[in-house]
Amino acid sequence: MTDAAAEQEDRPDGQSGRLLGMSEDELLDLLSRGDLAVRGRLVDASNATMYCEISLDDVAAACVYKPVAGERPLWDFPEGTLAGRELAAYAVSRSGGWDVVPPTVYRDGPFGPGMCQLWVDADDTVDLVALARRTDHQGLRQMAVFDAVVNNADRKIGHLLPMPDGHLYGCDHGVCFGTDYKLRTVLWQWRGKKLTSQATAALRRLQESLDGGPLAAELAGWLTGEEIEATRKRAALLLEHKVHPFPPADWPAVPWPPI
Ligand SMILES: Nc1ncnc2c1ncn2[C@@H]1O[C@H](COP(=O)(O)OP(=O)(O)OP(=O)(O)O)[C@@H](O)[C@H]1O
Ligand SMILES: [Mg+2]
Repeated sequence: MTDAAAEQEDRPDGQSGRLLGMSEDELLDLLSRGDLAVRGRLVDASNATMYCEISLDDVAAACVYKPVAGERPLWDFPEGTLAGRELAAYAVSRSGGWDVVPPTVYRDGPFGPGMCQLWVDADDTVDLVALARRTDHQGLRQMAVFDAVVNNADRKIGHLLPMPDGHLYGCDHGVCFGTDYKLRTVLWQWRGKKLTSQATAALRRLQESLDGGPLAAELAGWLTGEEIEATRKRAALLLEHKVHPFPPADWPAVPWPPI
């Protein structure tokens, strides 16, 4: 067993400790209670997206803070907030065991309440365009299933965050959970292919958490009842057909720009 695998087995919460050597719950505590200091604004971002430092006691980390007050209204997502949808995506990622979304909390900040997400140090030697086209990357394939269940309308290449240890995170899940089929992604390479056993296991965990577990109540803080029901139906449909979804029309629905 490798050291990393041994560490993963040892951790009580099942997290690998790849993020600052801290557990998911420790990171959530840091993000929730830490002092949030804005260090800069991500200039390419279409909403107010701040790069910040978060510090608590003697621990400091980088994070992204997106205040609700900085959100541009979107006609197709009139309910709730983009920040809340990012929280809902985090909750789904955790419940299914996908671990696609870095630790994320909802909290107050210098520009009012918003989402605060740990900044993960992606491996900048990875060619993201080549990564997005791979058909043999299990983390990428799992992300495609996660996107299908949350109905992600914005899986761009730049929203892929490959870690040095091979794990893949994603970011920018503000336009997920629409009730209409709006999957827009660069990851169509598995369309019509059979879901892997890991994918069906993750979808079942999600179903259990939605039906008997705490997830539905958690999502109710961020999404409408219809959106939660639509999420339930997407999970059920994926499990019924056991294939990766097809694009809505003749041509794959890809976000623009795709990067
Ligand atoms: N948690 C994170 N860890 C590491 N990098 C991140 C994280 N969140 C965002 N980024 C980086 O910052 C970029 C902009 O963030 P994000 O896409 O979330 O903002 P946005 O306001 O929605 O931007 P846009 O509208 O341009 O997509 C991402 O493409 C990614 O490179
Ligand atoms: Mg973005």
